[in-house]
Amino acid sequence: CGDKIALTPPMGWNSWNCFAGEVSAEKVKRAAEVMVKTGLVNHGWNYVNIDDFWQNHRDSKDPSLQGKLRDEGGNIVPNKRFGDMKGLADYVHGLGLKIGLYSSPGPWTCGGCAGSYGYEKKDAESYAKWGFDYLKYDWCSYGGVLNGIPDNDPYKVSVISYEGGYQLSTAVKPFKIMGDYLRQQPRDIVFSLCQYGMSDVWKWGDSVGGTTWRTTNDITDTWPSVKSIALAQDQSAAWAKPGNWNDPDMLVVGTVGWGSPHPTMLKPDEQYLHFSLWSLFSAPLLIGCDMEKLDAFTLNLLTNDEVIAVNQDALGKQATCVQTIGDLRIYVKELEDGSRAVGFCNFGLEKVDIPYKDLKKLGISGKQKVRDLWRQKDIATIHEDKETLSVKVPMHGVVLYKFTPVK
Ligand code: GLA
Repeated sequence: CGDKIALTPPMGWNSWNCFAGEVSAEKVKRAAEVMVKTGLVNHGWNYVNIDDFWQNHRDSKDPSLQGKLRDEGGNIVPNKRFGDMKGLADYVHGLGLKIGLYSSPGPWTCGGCAGSYGYEKKDAESYAKWGFDYLKYDWCSYGGVLNGIPDNDPYKVSVISYEGGYQLSTAVKPFKIMGDYLRQQPRDIVFSLCQYGMSDVWKWGDSVGGTTWRTTNDITDTWPSVKSIALAQDQSAAWAKPGNWNDPDMLVVGTVGWGSPHPTMLKPDEQYLHFSLWSLFSAPLLIGCDMEKLDAFTLNLLTNDEVIAVNQDALGKQATCVQTIGDLRIYVKELEDGSRAVGFCNFGLEKVDIPYKDLKKLGISGKQKVRDLWRQKDIATIHEDKETLSVKVPMHGVVLYKFTPVK
């Protein structure tokens, strides 16, 4: 893997799905504190990532977002809610955690704050100087750059894509510029590309120094959103490897929704399926909820070490769907110890029961120990020719097993 970082998928928290434009240094600190106090840190959770709105805004009426975008030297200036970025990074590091932030290759972020266009070198230097460990870099207004809209046009931010399509080199360029500057910094910085899967990013993300890349559009806490994102992951699966991860977006669990906070609209079984799939996909695991409102169910969901181990497996393969039976999709992920994690994922409305003897394509042969990872229990030792294992999968739910060959 050469000089790669994040040899297993990053795990942490991101501010967007719960705070959006209302994020502040205080809220970020409290999220970090919860990560430690609840013991999440002992299960591998460690990045605390600020999304959009730590910078000053183009034209917001909110006084805390008004101010110089950059100082006389061209250095990015955090907004009044943040102020001391190095102090915040030191605080988070002091808790034994890592810290991330967000920018755009265009002049404006998706939310209309200052982006990095024309200042990429300065920004990479600022992030490193402050001590940041992770950058999410979001395409957004870069489409406006391509369309030749003047940099000072206030509506530039709304131009998300390049009308008429664009060449691959055009899509790659802004990420390469920032990727090169990040690599020149004297610290490891995870580079998370965010351009919603345009231009088959999984094919070139590695070449620009990308660690993770978004494969699909923004997630919301609804079943149709999670389902459509999950079903779109197959095409990029072959490109996942240690240091390079496909990113289907944040985990929509717990209390989400800025402005109107509410418990995720996903039902419990849908949440088990969501977390199982993201583990099978070797996806970055970024909790999107208000950490101060973590409930017992969500904490349990996020601390099952055997399920997390599927995500963090050192082989770094992404599960592929090897068989479908109606709305049931069976995903298999090869693990480093020769075992296979098998997710029986029911995207349909009815309960499904499938006899093990019917599961021909799992690549499993000989005698196998079967362990239920959510329940952390061995449930059977089977031989494919002799035994029948009945798998009952609830609607919109999952059964996640690990099959280990027995000598
Ligand atoms: C885009 C990204 C989101 C979030 C917002 C911030 O929509 O896809 O994940 O970062 O921008 O404005």
